[in-house]
Amino acid sequence: MYTSEAQRALYDLSKKLLYTPQADLFSESAIERAEDLRSVLRYHEWRYSIQNDPVISDFEYDQLYKQLEAIEREHPELVSPDSPTQRVSADLTADFDQVAHLTPMLSLDNSYDAEDLTDFDTAVKKLCGLPKESDVEYAVEPKFDGGTVALVFENDRLLRAATRGNGEVGDEITLNMRTLRSIPLQAAFSKYGIAKAELRGEAIIRKDVFEKINAKRLEAGETLFANPRNAATGGLRMKDPKEAAIRGLEAFIYQLGYAADAAGNSLLDKFPTHNESILLLGELGFKTPALATSPQGEGLGVGLPERRICPSITEVIAFCEGWQNQRETYPYEIDGMVIKVNSLELQARCGYTAHHPRWAIAFKFKARQATTRLRDVEFQVGKTGAVTPVAKLEPVQLAGVTVQNVSLHNEEFIRSKDIRIGDQVLVERAGDVIPYIVKALDELRDGRERPVVYPTLCPVCQSLLVKPEDEAIWRCENAECEAQVVQRMIFHTSKHAMDIEGMGESTIERFFKLGWLHSIADIYRLDYGQLAQLEGFGEKSATNLQKAIEKAKQNPIYRLLHSLSIHHLGQKTSKLLAAELEHVLDLAHWELDRYEQIKDVGPVLARNVYHFFHNEHNLELLQTMEGLGVNLRQTEDDKKPASAAEGPLAGRSILFTGTLTTLTREAAEARAAAAGATLASGVSKNLSILVVGEKAGSKLKKAQALGTVEIWTEAEFLERVQEETAG
Ligand code: IVH
Repeated sequence: MYTSEAQRALYDLSKKLLYTPQADLFSESAIERAEDLRSVLRYHEWRYSIQNDPVISDFEYDQLYKQLEAIEREHPELVSPDSPTQRVSADLTADFDQVAHLTPMLSLDNSYDAEDLTDFDTAVKKLCGLPKESDVEYAVEPKFDGGTVALVFENDRLLRAATRGNGEVGDEITLNMRTLRSIPLQAAFSKYGIAKAELRGEAIIRKDVFEKINAKRLEAGETLFANPRNAATGGLRMKDPKEAAIRGLEAFIYQLGYAADAAGNSLLDKFPTHNESILLLGELGFKTPALATSPQGEGLGVGLPERRICPSITEVIAFCEGWQNQRETYPYEIDGMVIKVNSLELQARCGYTAHHPRWAIAFKFKARQATTRLRDVEFQVGKTGAVTPVAKLEPVQLAGVTVQNVSLHNEEFIRSKDIRIGDQVLVERAGDVIPYIVKALDELRDGRERPVVYPTLCPVCQSLLVKPEDEAIWRCENAECEAQVVQRMIFHTSKHAMDIEGMGESTIERFFKLGWLHSIADIYRLDYGQLAQLEGFGEKSATNLQKAIEKAKQNPIYRLLHSLSIHHLGQKTSKLLAAELEHVLDLAHWELDRYEQIKDVGPVLARNVYHFFHNEHNLELLQTMEGLGVNLRQTEDDKKPASAAEGPLAGRSILFTGTLTTLTREAAEARAAAAGATLASGVSKNLSILVVGEKAGSKLKKAQALGTVEIWTEAEFLERVQEETAG
C-alpha cells in the first residue's frame, strides 16, 4: 500500500510535526499542516491496525491526533468525512466476510495524568448540567491490550462474532471465537427479556501463555511475536479455527452495547448503571473484570481489585495511579484504565462525538516503548575489563524517565539485530527492567547508516583486546587499565559491596582525576583535611565520609571478597567462601581442588578466585589494606549460612537447555550463580526458570507440560542478569 520511500517521507514528516511547534491555528499554514497531519495519521493507522507493526509510540500518535483535532475545531469547514478524526481506524482485511455492527463501535479519548482526569470530570458535569461542586460516580476498569471483539447473541445463542473493523463494519470471526472457552455459546438472556444483545470486549492472551507460545515458536524455528497483543490480534483472524484455539485467547467483556426485546425495543434503559450491566454479564457466564472482594479477583493483580466503583474523580485518580504502579503484577497486558460514568442516564446526557463517547475516557499508562535515533555507539570498559558497546540515543521519554544510554551487550547482539549507527530504533522499558533495544526499524533507512565497528584496541589504554574462548565478550586484559581501576573502585564502594555512603561514581572519578586514588587501598588513606577544602565538600561532608569509611573497615569479609571484582564472584558465593575462612589471605594457600568442596562454586569461578589469590600484586594490596585498618578476619556475620541470597535471581532455580549462542554453558551457569540463582540438574516442579537455546528438545517439552516453569530465551536471561553481574 505504501512504498518504502513514501513511508520514509511520512515518518520524517511525523517527527517534524511532533517537534516543531504548532502554528497559529488561524493561519494559512495551519490549513496546510492539517493536511499533513491527516496523511501521517492515516499512515500510522495502517502501520498499527493492518501491519501490526507501529513505527511510532501510541503517545506520539495521540499528540498528532490532538494537533489535528485542534486545527479542525477552528476550521470546521475543512473537515472532510475521511479525516482520521471522523472515523475509527480501519483494519478490514479481504479474507473474512464483513458484518455491520448493531451500533457503531467507537474509540476512547485519552488522558495521561490527574489534570486530564479532572478536566474530564469538569466536562462531564457541564454536559450533565450538574453543579461544579457535585461528585459524579465512575466505574473504573482495566484497559485490556488485545483485539476488540463484538459478540451478538440472539435467542440465547451466540450468533456471530466480529472484529471492530472501521467501527461500522467488521470482519466476521465467529468460528474462531467459538473456540474460546471464556465465551459461552449460550447464555440465558431471555430470563431478562432480552432477545438480542451485542457485547463488546477484548480478546487477549495471558502473559505466561504468550511466553509459552513464543518458546514453542522458537523451538519450531518460527518468527516470534513481539508482544501478547500481536499474538492476540493475529489469533482473531486465523484462517483455521483450530489454530486460533491453540493461541489460548480469552475474552474479557467490558460493555453491553445493545440489548432489545423480541419486538426490537431497546432494553438498555432497564439498567440504571454500567456496573449493573457488567454484573449481569458476569452472571450470564461471561468473563468480566472483578470488583473488590469477589473470589475471581483474588490472585489477579496485587493490592487493588480489577475494577472499582469510585464515588468521585479523586478516588478515580488514586485508583488509576495505584494501577499504574501494580501493572506489571497483573497476568494480562493492560495499557491503562478506562473510566466510565456509571449512571446510564448521565451517560445519555453526555452523548458522543464521531470518535468517542463523552462519558468515558482512557487513562493511559506511561509508554514503555518509543522510537528514537541511534546517534553513536561507545565502548565502555567494565571492572573486569569487559568491553561493552553502549548505544548513545537521542534522548527519549520511557515510562517516565529520560533514556539516552542503553547497553547493546555484545557483538552478537548487534549483529543478530543488524543495528547500525543512524538507525531509528525501537526502545522498551518494562517495569523495573533496564531499557533495551527491541529492534532497528530497517525500512526507514536512507543509506547513510553506518555499521558498528568493533574496536581491536582498548578504547582507554590501547592494549590489544582479546576474546576468551568461552565468552561472547571482548576484554581488555590490562588490569592497570585506567577504566578498569576506576570501575573497580566504584564497585568496591557500592551498596552491594563495601557500602560506603557518599563515595559514589562522580566522587570517585573526581578523586581519581585529582590523583588521590590509584588503587582501592587509597580509599582508606584519604586526607580528610585536604578533602574538607575541596569545592562542594566542606567539614561536614568530609567528616561524614570519614565515618562511612571507618564503618566500612569493620565490614564482614564476605563484603570485602565481593568488592574485589573477581569475575563471577557474586555476593552469594562470597558468603559461601567467607564461611570457610579465618582470614581472607588463607585463600593464598588454597589449591584449586579445595574449591570443589564448596557447593555452587563451579570450575570457572574456582579458577578466577585461585588466580586472584596467586597474584603477588593482589596479595600486597590486601596486606596494605589490612595495615590501613580494613578487617580481613572472619566475623560472626560471615559464619552465618548464605541462605538468603541476593541478586536479580535470588532464591530461584535455573536450568539451561539447547545451544546458547552468545555464552558457553559454563559461563551462563556462572552468571546465573552470581545473580543469586541455584543451578538445577533437571526439569521438575521445583524448577523456576528454564533458559532455552537453539534446538531445545525434551526438557522444554517437559517444562511446558508442567506449566509452572518460566521459559526464557537467552536474550531474556542476559537482560535479567546483565546489570548485577556484567563486567
Ligand atoms: S470501552 C464506547 N472498556 O480500548 C466505549 N474499551 O479505544 C468503547 N478497550 O479497542 C470502549 N479495555 O477494545 C472499553 N475496559 C474497556 C476496554 C476497552 C480495552 C479497548 C477497546 C478499544 C479501545 C478503545
